[in-house]
Order: sequence, then structure tokens, then C-alpha cells
Amino acid sequence: MAHKSELIAADIEQYLKAHEGKSLLRFMTCGSVDDGKSTLIGRLLYESKLIFADHLAAIEAESKKRNPHSEDLDLSLLVDGLAAEREQGITIDVAYRFFSTDKRKFIVADTPGHEQYTRNMVTAASNCELAILLIDARKGVLVQTRRHSYLVSLLGIRKVVLAINKMDAVGFDEAVFSAIQKEYAQFAARIGLSDVLAIPISALKGDNITARSSQTPYYQGPCLLEHLETVEVSVTQQSQPLRLPVQWVNRPHQDFRGFSGMIASGVLSAGDKLRVMPSGIIGEVASIWGANGIQQQACAGQSVTVSLTQEIDVSRGDVFVDPAHPATCADQLQATLIWMQEEPLLPGRPYLIKMGTQLATATVTSLRHKVNVNTLEQVAARTLGLNEIAVCNLSIDRAITFDPYQENRETGGFILIDRISNATAAAGLVHFALRRADNIHWQALDLNKETRAAQKGQQPCVLWFTGLSGSGKSTIANLLEKKLYAQGRHTYLLDGDNIRHGLSKDLGFTAADRVENIRRVAEVAKLMVDAGLIVLVAFISPFRSDRAMARGLFSSDEFLEIFIDTPVAEAERRDPKGLYKKARAKQLKNFTGIDSPYEPPESPELRLDTTALSAEQSAQQILDLLDQYTR
Ligand code: ADX
Repeated sequence: MAHKSELIAADIEQYLKAHEGKSLLRFMTCGSVDDGKSTLIGRLLYESKLIFADHLAAIEAESKKRNPHSEDLDLSLLVDGLAAEREQGITIDVAYRFFSTDKRKFIVADTPGHEQYTRNMVTAASNCELAILLIDARKGVLVQTRRHSYLVSLLGIRKVVLAINKMDAVGFDEAVFSAIQKEYAQFAARIGLSDVLAIPISALKGDNITARSSQTPYYQGPCLLEHLETVEVSVTQQSQPLRLPVQWVNRPHQDFRGFSGMIASGVLSAGDKLRVMPSGIIGEVASIWGANGIQQQACAGQSVTVSLTQEIDVSRGDVFVDPAHPATCADQLQATLIWMQEEPLLPGRPYLIKMGTQLATATVTSLRHKVNVNTLEQVAARTLGLNEIAVCNLSIDRAITFDPYQENRETGGFILIDRISNATAAAGLVHFALRRADNIHWQALDLNKETRAAQKGQQPCVLWFTGLSGSGKSTIANLLEKKLYAQGRHTYLLDGDNIRHGLSKDLGFTAADRVENIRRVAEVAKLMVDAGLIVLVAFISPFRSDRAMARGLFSSDEFLEIFIDTPVAEAERRDPKGLYKKARAKQLKNFTGIDSPYEPPESPELRLDTTALSAEQSAQQILDLLDQYTR
């Protein structure tokens, strides 16, 4: 590698030492290949001489071949390998490249510019301190520039370089530069980007990249590289209050109990007081262990094990915080979500939420509005698709510890995980805790489920029937309820069609509406179980996640899932309500089994094959099962 430094050959130890001591700037480049992004990154790599000699020779040869009359190197060739992959439709996450100069080390994150790559940009931006927004001087501020700027601001990047490129193509005209600078400044102020440096450049010719150009006498600021080398990244994680999420409790032997994790922000010293969140207990740091043994102090980014002077209860997922500047602890919050998977967001559906080392279950209780990333307009929405962004309220099954993202990027960001596929469903940025949950208390009542059940002489539970329309759910449930009634049991049958006449009459059959329908009936069933009843729920309930959500509301012996297994062909043959016929004739949309999916249960408590069993036999099997569960 042809690095500039002579030291590599002369004294490698010395070189590495100098290298280690340099600060690191992570930045990202936004814009498309047409704006000259590849050429710009290529030039930065080239100027820092971090290019293999043979790679350079190959590029010289290729440049000559492409343009025999020019001495210029086509530096975009250095990075264009990725462009080719993109053209083939191969998903690129984020390309990170490393380079260094005498003053600093750099990691540049390069993401594709199109809207379908929003999630990639978000991933990159969450780690960067600065963004270079490339603008083609001939085109000015474009929709794309605005979208990128919005994302940059949303993800908490405060420093922006507006690299007005291809100035050579407009004769380095000051008026062009000033007009773009002015237009952008107005827009940037609107979205809260106040630290913007506009630089007129030519990535192709090298103007204002590594040295000030004589072509732009009107520009008095630093060239791009000088700016990158000297820009102060003021809000460092170290200057924030202490946050140390506990990753695991380290107990190698009886006499030592330490808490390990990476410091998310702030500085930690031996003797410091700590507050454990969410419990609120105060402790004191006895010792700090780092990679090389005991140390007096540790700061953001370092992984440590901390022991306390007294035994207190701390477990994985707890967060150590500065007692004078505690974090927030709440189970309801407002956040921006960036949706990252094909499968849309469905309010009411449970997802796993991972915030630092904390893992819990979250549902979106309301989707306040979607943001059109190109116009920044707020639009009403019921679901979110891939790469869409929205402000939502979330409800979490227990209180978790966090900070607003704009105050602390490490403790204010989270991801949502799809419980079935385990894929990352969304990235989230916390705005604030919703305090209203604090003001609603669970009213303890003197009579409870046990007393009500005892009075009825039965063990309450839910019999959850799932299966296609026309599979026989209602018929079997109806028969079963009559048998239970005859035995003197106290029951109630919640039937899909009936509930849709009242409680769910505002809902249709889109995936989002079905999720909400199941959420409502599951909550009603829970109240009825609390009232001491045996509740029969007969709903198609086509989605596995939602049935899992319903199951999660009950204890394990209270929820029995009964799969009424009737193949589509058979249900269609029976067609008791004539709906399959309508669906086939396209008079009915989103019909389960035809143009809307049905996900059969993987391990129901009971599966009834209605092609082999009569309704009477099916009902009897359920009675037998119930006897096993309820003694
Ligand atoms: S669920 O999917 O939300 O659980 P639910 O059980 O409430 O469905 O309602 C299903 C009933 O509504 C069916 O038995 C059928 O009679 C009727 N229905 C009307 N349109 C549809 C449709 N598009 N898909 C399924 N069922 C429909």
C-alpha cells in the first residue's frame, strides 16, 4: 500500500502509535452517483494514498482506455464496483471505507441515494457525526437533497457539508454557488440543521478538495479535507450524563459480583454514585475493570465490568445512570419509526423492542402521522410500508429506560423485531415518554377472578377457534356452548360475524383491520375470563402473530387454541354464505384463503379435521380436552 507516511518503512511501531492517537471522524456521503459521489470518495482515498499500488495501476490503465485524450484519472472507478452490484439489484447494506491523513482517521459510510434505500441510509447515519451532501451545481437543490437532509437531521447528525460539486461545469460561477447556498440555508433552518458549511468543489478536477482552489477566489473557507480534519464534533458521547446498560452479571466466584457492559455515554470513575434504573436503588462504584485490568476511570465506548461497594439487585437490561441526571423510565412513549421490512407495520400487533440491552414487547397504539420524505408533509396513515417514516405512540409491556434520541443517540434509539421472522422490522427514535400512563392506575377490586370463578364452580378459560370462513367454527362452537350450558357451566360465545355488527363495525378486512379486530376480541375475552366465564371465541384470526398476542394475555392453562382444519377447497364447496363465490367473482376483496392469507397454527391444543369428523364429534373432543384442563 502506498501510504504517504515514510514511517511505515522506517519505524512501523512509531507509525502505529501515531495512528492510534489520532481522533476518528465518521461521516457519510449523501447524493447519487451522478452527483459525483464516487469520484469524490475516490479522490479522498486517492489523496490519502490508501490505495493498493496494483489497484491504482489498473485504474490508470482503465482511465486511459475510457478517455485516451485526458491525463485525468477516473477516480470513480475506485468505488464503482458497488454501482455494478446495485445495477444487478443486489442489496447493498452500507459500504464503509477507511482512510487516514496525518491529522485524523476517517470512516466514510457510502449509501445509495434512491428512496428505496432509505433504511440503508438510516443505518449509516445513526453512527455518523457529519454528513456531506453532494449537489450538482448545474441542478441545484433537488427533492433528493431535501430527503437526505431530512434523514440526516432526523438521525441527529448536526454537522453538514454542502458540497456543491461540478463547479467546473458552470465556470466556477460565484452567482451559481451563492444561489444554491442561499436556497439550501433556508431549507436547512426549517429542519433544524444550523451548522452547514457550503464548499464549491470539483471532485473531478480536485478543486477545493485537498487544497484551496484558485478558481474560487470568492470562497474563503477551508477546503473539504481541511474541514474534515479540523471540524469539532462537539456533542461527544463523553460529555453526556453517564449511561451504562448492563449486558450481563459477571460472577466468576463467590466473592466477586460485577456488572458488564459498554458505556453508552459519559464518564465513570471509581467512587462514583450510580442509580440503577428502573429500580432507582443507589449504589457506589468500588472498582472498574477494563481490557487491561483495574482502571480508575472509563468513558463512552469502552467495555467494562463494574463492581459496587454493596450488594444490590441488578440484572441484565438494567441501566446504570448518573443520579443527578437520570434517564426516563416509562412504558408508553412517542417515537419516530422508520419501517425496514416488506411486511407492513400493523398497529396493535406485538413486536419485540430492543433498546440497548433491554428486550420487551411493544405495540404501536396509534400511528399519528406518516411523513412524506420528499415534501416533509404529514399524512394520515393506518399502516407503514418499507422505507416509510411515521410518528407513533408505542405501548410496552413493562417500563424501560431511555433518553430522547435528540439528547442521546445511544440510549434514545431502538429497533423493533418481527416476532415470527426475527428480522429487524423498524428503527425507532424516541421523542418522549407519554405521561398519561402514569395517571391511569389499575383499580384493585375486592372481588376478583378467583372469587367469581369459585361462585360459578368452574375454572374460567378461553377456547379460541381459528380456521377459514365456512370451516365450521361457529357451528361447532354453538353446539359446544349448548353442551356446556346443559352441564350448568357459565359461558359466552364471541362470534366473528356478530362482533362485526357492533364492537368492530368500523373495521373491514385489510390486514391492519383484522389485527385490530383480534386485539379487541382478545381484550374482551380477557375481561370475560376475569368475570369467571368459559369464553368461546370463533374468529378466522388468520395471522399467527395475533393469535400469539391473544395467547399472551392469558396464563398457560387459560388459553386453548382449537384449529378447525378445513381445506379451502372443502370450505369453498360448502360456501354457507355464498362468499367464496363472490370472492372468486372479484366482488369481495381480501377474502381469506383466496386473496388474503391464512396462517395455520403450528401447535394448537387441538386440531379438528372436519372432513373426517362431524360437528357433534368435534364438539365432544373439545369437551374432553376441557375436562383434562379443568379437572
Ligand atoms: S377476522 O379475520 O378478522 O378474524 P372475522 O372472524 O372477524 O375475521 O370475520 C369473518 C367473517 O366475516 C367471515 O366468516 C365472513 O362471513 C365475513 N367476511 C366478509 N368479508 C370477508 C373477507 N374478505 N374475508 C373473510 N371473511 C369475510
